[in-house]
Amino acid sequence: MADLLQIRHPSSGTEAELAITDGTIRAVDLREVVVDGEPLATYDPGYVNTASCRSAITYIDGNAGVLEYRGYPIEQLAEQSTFLEVAWLLLNGELPTAGELAEWERLITEHRMLPDKLKTVLAGFPYDAHPMTILMASTAAFYSFYPDARNFDDPEARSLNIARLIAKMPTLAAFAYRKGKAKPYINPDDAYGYCHNFLAMLFKQAERRYVADERLIRAVEVLFILHADHEQNCSTSAVRSVASSGNDLYTCVSAGVGALHGPLHGGANEAVLTMLREIGTVDRVPEFIEGVKAGRVRMMGFGHRVYKNYDPRAKIIKRAVEDVFEITGVNPLLQVAQELEKYGLTDEYFVSRRLYPNVDFYSGLIYEALGFPPEMFTVLFAIPRTAGWAAHYQEFITDPDNKIARPKQIYTGYPTRSYVPIEDRG
Ligand code: CMC
Repeated sequence: MADLLQIRHPSSGTEAELAITDGTIRAVDLREVVVDGEPLATYDPGYVNTASCRSAITYIDGNAGVLEYRGYPIEQLAEQSTFLEVAWLLLNGELPTAGELAEWERLITEHRMLPDKLKTVLAGFPYDAHPMTILMASTAAFYSFYPDARNFDDPEARSLNIARLIAKMPTLAAFAYRKGKAKPYINPDDAYGYCHNFLAMLFKQAERRYVADERLIRAVEVLFILHADHEQNCSTSAVRSVASSGNDLYTCVSAGVGALHGPLHGGANEAVLTMLREIGTVDRVPEFIEGVKAGRVRMMGFGHRVYKNYDPRAKIIKRAVEDVFEITGVNPLLQVAQELEKYGLTDEYFVSRRLYPNVDFYSGLIYEALGFPPEMFTVLFAIPRTAGWAAHYQEFITDPDNKIARPKQIYTGYPTRSYVPIEDRG
């Protein structure tokens, strides 16, 4: 027998039994309960306790600090996998065979180049345009180059456009970076893997061949794996929402990039570095913490809607920080971050609210050590998250339950009133 929730509304005498499935009730079933002549609805700003879809891609247990892609623990993937293998896993549900992986890597390598005319789009931005703005606009512009993305019901067209976008994102990011530096663009090099090629497109100077330290390439690979997906976060929900009106992948991912840019989401890594710089030295940490507790500032890189425990990604990144600093030399801001974390893990304010370091707390320090300016940090988040966005886009398109996103509202404005001619307005 189905599990049921009984509802009784004493003043109207209405009673209803709602089926519980997967630990949820269907919000539409609440309409059976009529209050003041209106069917009952839920009020949930920020979707704090509302499941917006069914998804088989990523699992998070926020209390236990667990993150899994398609059932595989993030720690194992970060240790043993590559970003492109993880992207395949997110998109297809299974780890690829050797043959599938080789073909996937070949396809991605084949599609790395940007359409030539996109350079004209890039040229139109001011020299100091934020690279996330360039990324957002250029991602949307891809649709004009690949209009077959509207054939999203055709699995072949869908897969091709997903591969195109995953392949082109690093190139677009590198071009946005070099435009800001007024440096010539470096085209992708087929001889390099995904992450090495990205570093080459960013940092190659006049040398014949750009060769990066293998340990730094691996650090980028690990960061890309950790950022590849995170279930129904703000940007993924934006992607699904825009997809729900029947949009192509590029338009949807452009919306995802925009949502990611906010400092409460992916923009937090940039905000963490700004915060660390403003604090500057360890002796100024107590004063900063007082400001947080008084509600004057937020401790960026701390707290999470889902994790009420140490974010498992932050644990892995914290270890990677130490490895990277062995190669690049220690950034003195690490000490400030460690001191902040000490307060965060012991002070009653943070403990009682279950605020822990999240993925963004230490990632900015690695990015800086690798030579990235802060405005590139969120771009570095967006590149791998494209795989997650694409996986959710695909899942949404093929979900028989999918519907156009159209939340209700509680109207708080005026009741009906008559138009007042301008000469009669006081
Ligand atoms: N610093 C100080 N206080 C905080 C913080 C913080 N970083 N985060 C939450 N709080 C307090 C908040 O003031 C509230 O206190 P009170 O109950 O006294 O009003 C309580 O904790 C609950 O916070 P909330 O804002 O209701 O929590 P939320 O789930 O709506 O917000 C969050 C989650 C991530 C937006 C928030 O924790 C935050 O702003 N963190 C800083 C920004 C950040 O690091 N974002 C990256 C998130 S991880 C990467 C990603 O997936 O995007």
